[in-house]
Amino acid sequence: MSKFHKLGVVGSPIEHSLSPFIHSRFARNEKINLEYLPYKIESDEFVIFIRDFFKDKDSKGLNITLPYKQNASLLEGEKPLEINFINSANTIHKINNKLYIHSTDGMGFIEDFNKKKLILSNKNILIYGAGGAVESILFQIINEKPKSITIINRTPSKVTKISKNYKKLFKISKINDIDENTKFDVILNGTSVTNNDMGYMQNISFNKGAVFYDLNYSLDETPFCKWAKSFSDNIHDGIGMLVYQAAYSFEIWFNVMPETKLILNEINEMKK
Ligand code: ATR
Repeated sequence: MSKFHKLGVVGSPIEHSLSPFIHSRFARNEKINLEYLPYKIESDEFVIFIRDFFKDKDSKGLNITLPYKQNASLLEGEKPLEINFINSANTIHKINNKLYIHSTDGMGFIEDFNKKKLILSNKNILIYGAGGAVESILFQIINEKPKSITIINRTPSKVTKISKNYKKLFKISKINDIDENTKFDVILNGTSVTNNDMGYMQNISFNKGAVFYDLNYSLDETPFCKWAKSFSDNIHDGIGMLVYQAAYSFEIWFNVMPETKLILNEINEMKK
């Protein structure tokens, strides 16, 4: 039997996370012997939990999900520059008792966009929300060289903060600052709005065939995807991003990019 590895995902709530299912499938396909469990923890336990988890000699890595991605970015360890920019991390990897902190959300998002043949480059992008989910992918979106990025958020001061953070890299606008004739090509939802009230998105113009993409995922239709139906039929939820960010985490831990097609088909079957 190959070496045993202990992994998991930390968050709250965590009951509905698909990550244990996804990583078990990856491991089965790649013949890697692992246990991947969900861990629901309270915010004051975060740092202690991480420390204790990695004391075990079999512990190899963790995924971190909401609401702890920012906490994870602040952990002591080796991290690429991007982590300090986005204030978010979702993957921890232990090598020789040292922790390496990564974020695979942005890469997972871009991979899903590419696989679906959707384009960010030279497009007018509207982002609804300015929380952790948005921050975690913004750096990679900018890398794709869009024409413009506009953020709309219930609390506008958060957009001001993000805009300042990226000032040297890219101009990020508030919705009130842009030309009212602007039509958006790509609309991303990064809010945690769970009802159909998209009030903040009223009076906005979208180009024909615009892409509507919800960073959230659910086996049921998400409220954003339901709402978007009256504007476009180019609508996507975050299932693909979820699978690809998981695949990049798996690659960090095991140095092998797992097969993703089968698992995506399997999850899409569950949706019906
Ligand atoms: P996180 O910061 O971890 O991503 P969050 O605090 O739940 O999660 O916020 C996610 C986003 O959803 C934020 O942009 C939040 O808006 P605020 O910055 O104003 O808090 C947005 N959001 C959450 N509930 C909302 C609601 N009922 N209406 C509009 N936006 C909402």
